[in-house]
Amino acid sequence: MTKYNWDERHIITFPEKELALEIKDLHVYYGQKEAIKGIDMQFEKNKITALIGPSGCGKSTFLRSLNRMNDTIDIAKVTGQILYQGVDVNASNINVYEMRKHIGMVFQRPNPFAKSIYRNITFAHERKGVRDKQTLDEIVETSLKQAGLW
Ligand SMILES: Nc1ncnc2c1ncn2[C@@H]1O[C@H](COP(=O)(O)OP(=O)(O)OP(=O)(O)O)[C@@H](O)[C@H]1O
Ligand SMILES: [Mg+2]
Repeated sequence: MTKYNWDERHIITFPEKELALEIKDLHVYYGQKEAIKGIDMQFEKNKITALIGPSGCGKSTFLRSLNRMNDTIDIAKVTGQILYQGVDVNASNINVYEMRKHIGMVFQRPNPFAKSIYRNITFAHERKGVRDKQTLDEIVETSLKQAGLW
């Protein structure tokens, strides 16, 4: 709790804001080109934050860096810190697949894998070890109903 004594009569108490993500001095390079030039940002837990800027200013590059999707771009280099609840996602001991269960991206355009809709929905669950057909059927039905596609 943070206490502010704004005048002699009132002490007002605010809860400390909880951070989901904290970005410190983030730089992203594509070869010689510096696409992100030293960003410091904080994202509060349970809040929605919009990133707005002209085409090419680095929005997608920034978002991709949050769960290390720039790792797959050979010429991309990331420096600085991306702290998720205090842990640096770029640390060498991070299991990227575990981290991505916490930090994900919903793309502008859906891009299903080249398999059935059923298998697209069950893919991650099966990888996590769900094998029971009835459970998988229920997951598919619930997901499609939630998306208005059943
Ligand atoms: N894979 C890549 N290789 C080389 N340069 C790239 C790559 N991806 C992006 N860039 C460059 O990095 C800069 C930032 O691009 P980015 O796609 O992050 O911008 P953006 O803000 O998401 O743009 P838009 O609004 O058009 O989606 C641009 O100059 C772009 O050309
Ligand atoms: Mg973009």
